[in-house]
This record gives sequence, C-alpha cells and structure tokens, in this order.
Amino acid sequence: MERAVVVASANGRVGILRAMEVLRRGGSALDAVEAGVREVEANPRDHTVGYGGLPNLLGVVELDAAIMDGRTLATGAVGAIRGFPHPVSVARRVMEELPHVFLVGEGAERFAREMGFAPAELLTEEAREVWLRMLREEGGVDDPTRLPYLEKIRTYVNWAMDPEKVRAAYAAGAPDPPGSGTVNFLARDHRGDLAAATSTSGWAWKYPGRLGDSPVVGAGLYADNRYGAAACTGRGEMTIRTCTAYSLVRYLREGLPLEDAGRLAMEELGRLVDRYFSTVSVVAMDRHGHCAAFSNRAGATYVFMTEDMDTFLERDRIYIRVTEGRRESM
Ligand code: GLY
Repeated sequence: MERAVVVASANGRVGILRAMEVLRRGGSALDAVEAGVREVEANPRDHTVGYGGLPNLLGVVELDAAIMDGRTLATGAVGAIRGFPHPVSVARRVMEELPHVFLVGEGAERFAREMGFAPAELLTEEAREVWLRMLREEGGVDDPTRLPYLEKIRTYVNWAMDPEKVRAAYAAGAPDPPGSGTVNFLARDHRGDLAAATSTSGWAWKYPGRLGDSPVVGAGLYADNRYGAAACTGRGEMTIRTCTAYSLVRYLREGLPLEDAGRLAMEELGRLVDRYFSTVSVVAMDRHGHCAAFSNRAGATYVFMTEDMDTFLERDRIYIRVTEGRRESM
C-alpha cells in the first residue's frame, strides 16, 4: 500500500484534515482534493475562494475551479461561474459527464443546475462592504448603481490594480493584494494515484468575465501519475503565460529532483515583461509523494500532511527570487 499524502496552499488548512480522512478511508486522490477544496469554498472568512469571495468590479462573485486526475490526465474546469458555491464539484462533473473539459459563464451555470447543484448567494455582507469601500475610497464612486459601464470601467479595474502600487508592494515583500489568492490541493492515495484541484474567486475587482489560471490546465494545475503534480496561486496572468504547473511537472519528467523542477518553473516567470509583475506561489509533489512549495514572495507558507502524522504541518515555501523581464541572449 502506498503512502497517502496531501499538500495544499496555506488557506487549505481548513480542509486538509478532511482530505486526509478521505485518503485514510481508502478514498481516491480525486475524492480527497475535491473534499479538501470544498471546505475552503464553504469558509466565509476566506475572501479568495467560494462563498465570501471578493466580487468583480460590478459586485458579483465569479468563481473559477478545476480538477485533474493523474491516472488518465482527465480534467474538468469551470470559469466565471456565478451563484454556485462549490465550483470544484461542478468541474468534476464536467470531467465525468461531458465530452468537454471547460465550461464558462452561463453554460457552466446551466450545467450546474442540470446536475442538481444548489444555487446560493455568494456575496457576504462583509465582502459587499469591502467592495463598496473600494469603490468609494479608491474609485471615487459613492453609488454602485451609477458605476460607469464598459467604456469607463477599465479605468477602475486599472485603478484597483495600479501597477505602481503592485510593484511597490512586491518589491517590499508585502502580502498578496486582497483577492489574489486561490486554494490548491494535491493528493496521493494508497494506490499511488495523484490528483490536483484549484478554486478561486479570482482577482478582486476584476473585469467581469476575467479568468485566472486556476481553471486553466497546465497553468494553474497539472497532475500526471508518472511524474508528479503541481498547482499555483497568485497572479494568474503570469502563470498562464509560462504554463507554470505543467512546466514544473515537465521538469520532473526530465528527471530533475523536485526542488530543481520548482526552481526552474519559477525562474521562467522572470522571462515575463509585465507591468503588474507580482506574487506567484506553487505547491508540488513528485510521484513518490515528496512535497515542496515555492514562492517569489519571502515568508509564504503551505500545509502538508502524510497519513502517519496526527495533524498537518505549516512550513515556509522555498523562496525563489524572480526578477521581471530577464531576457536571454539569443
Ligand atoms: N491564481 C488565481 C487567479 O489568478 O485568479
């Protein structure tokens, strides 16, 4: 019997015991990552995932999630889905019920209804207050019903993501901007099978319809039984461009040790020229269940648990200094 292991982003601490319970009972890695993520999606204090997540610019919570089965590379994903609190489970049904891998917006909501998922209001009073305060204090808008539409809205998205502020915060090693988080879970079960899952409410105040990396296979998550698994948090616009999760697993395939694979996948971010260059963090596991996690922000943590542990441990991620816009000589 193989050793069961779970690794997650730090906000996964509310779900990691549940995920391990699934594995201890002989459940699959796929069941474990879904169960772990669902606990985070239900946590109203987490403003980056599921119920209680911070909304888009118009005050609507839009969620992204994905799940991947390392046995078969099967995957399911949903993007910009509104009104369903467990997008990871909808993503799993996409994987299991449809010939597609990715549904977005109204189509994803229609499918969730057809699959019997219960709809719910996801914007909590607390998240609504934060949104209103942002509009008032940072956007100069007192009445959200008078928010300028379309032609002006980009001004506010840009304000909320002022590149100078983002850069200054990154340079100072400040915590991630609000709403840039995600939950990642990776698991290995008693059969040695791997799975990965992600879920997020995405970048707070995002332009409606914006997708991050969480539902994008290869960018936000990847799992392949033969080599390992990885998943990302942070600014999805960066990992989408360097396919960070796949890149790490690909380095494992090439025979690199886990820590070298993570370092090289992170360093690839330095190739980006990006006004909003900011934090990216990765959790990873090799096929034997060895775990590691990486971040370009010092002090970032992650959680992990093996089945012989009484509870999970929270550890510092390996800090990888990444400088934006590194150009290779040709
Ligand atoms: N990593 C989450 C996002 O970019 O939405």
